[in-house]
Amino acid sequence: MSTPFRLMQFTAFSPGAWERLDAVNGYDWTRAETQKEMLRILEKAGYESVMFADTLAIGTLYGGNTDALVKLGMGEGFHNDPVAMMTALSRATQRIGLVCTLSASLYPTELLAQTLSSLDHMTRGRIGWNIVTSMGKDAAANYGITEFPSSQERYDRAAELIEQADKLWSYVQDADPAERLNIPGMPQGRPAIMQAGGSGPGKDFAAKHADGILAHRNSPEDMKVFRDDIRARAEKFGRDPDSLNLFFTCTPVIAGSQEEAAAMREQALQSPTKTIEAGLVNFSLRIGLDVSKFPVDEPLPEGVEIQGSQGVLDQHTESAAPTLREIAVSENLKETFAVQGTAVEVADRLEEVMNIAGGDGIAVRGGLLPANIIPMATQVVPILRERGLVRSTYRFPTFRQNLTDADFVASGGSVSPVTTVRSEK
Ligand SMILES: Cc1cc2nc3c(=O)[nH]c(=O)nc-3n(C[C@H](O)[C@H](O)[C@H](O)COP(=O)(O)O)c2cc1C
Repeated sequence: MSTPFRLMQFTAFSPGAWERLDAVNGYDWTRAETQKEMLRILEKAGYESVMFADTLAIGTLYGGNTDALVKLGMGEGFHNDPVAMMTALSRATQRIGLVCTLSASLYPTELLAQTLSSLDHMTRGRIGWNIVTSMGKDAAANYGITEFPSSQERYDRAAELIEQADKLWSYVQDADPAERLNIPGMPQGRPAIMQAGGSGPGKDFAAKHADGILAHRNSPEDMKVFRDDIRARAEKFGRDPDSLNLFFTCTPVIAGSQEEAAAMREQALQSPTKTIEAGLVNFSLRIGLDVSKFPVDEPLPEGVEIQGSQGVLDQHTESAAPTLREIAVSENLKETFAVQGTAVEVADRLEEVMNIAGGDGIAVRGGLLPANIIPMATQVVPILRERGLVRSTYRFPTFRQNLTDADFVASGGSVSPVTTVRSEK
């Protein structure tokens, strides 16, 4: 029998949506209106949360400059701060979790604790923190940091930051007055902690601290290896592995038939922002290595040293040896494991993948645009719901309670809510 799983949307407050050839006419990514509308649809479909990525620089890694990124008009390079978007989205919805990416390497502790606390109040207990260690030297330079710390040092700093922030959030009455900030206790006590690092230090950090973990893995078998690894690490640190949830990313292509879905995939690659060069720019920025100097029809040489995400490098190379061209296509389409076809076929595939991987959730990638959101939320989710595989209601008022609900798997999210949803004007 299949086990119920969770759904989230992984997106960004960025012009990435422009890259879809079927994007809404006149779409203005800097305004919240479309995003708000899409979020209401996701909430109706019972998505656990929506997570907003963020980066803090226009990367210069590929070829040593920003030329390709700017020439190609790649949406990935540009972001508005997700914090601003959260307050708008909180007014449009009542239960869905809102996850904000904030850099542990570049935010001062007090500012970070104050910001997340205020957001948790504004959203009435629905804030999650995607704690990233920031991948690039460019971001560090923008924040006046010239010595870029190692991956281990960055995760050590992130752990220290959580500890310090927890102290500020708990507002211990007998603490040294000099250590007390003017932060009112927040509805969730602390935000739900999300994490997406895939290196050894990253996985250890997640196993110790995270409520939810995101990963890109290119096959269900690789997903299972990743999940088993994280769960073993959690046990080693004395944590119940069932208290953390893994979310594996994918980009479903939903159409009237397999042929139509294949044609849509091909069409997406025709966008001027989806050239092989664009895919290589993305890959370079994510792994922190200029891949422009390597032959495009060969795999990346073994043993190359990277400054960025080990998790992303492993995603592509841990059980396959794709050429850089193949990696570029996968990066352009934000593909991980293949999932395409009719709504029933996509539902079947997600069920199958979750069964092989062992659970716990799927993170759908894509901007908050109708073409990305509506087919999945209104065609595939009802099928999954009918099979008792995804939640039909939010049991608790806060995001962290819903995310860590120990009864979720037993109930498939279909139990009655503990509190009723209060309607907001
Ligand atoms: C699904 C996913 C989402 C991520 N989102 C962001 C992001 O929004 N901003 C960012 O700076 N890093 C992001 N990262 C990078 C990771 O948080 C992490 O910093 C990076 O993978 C380096 O760590 P690693 O070497 O442990 O993999 C993301 C990674 C993954 C897998």
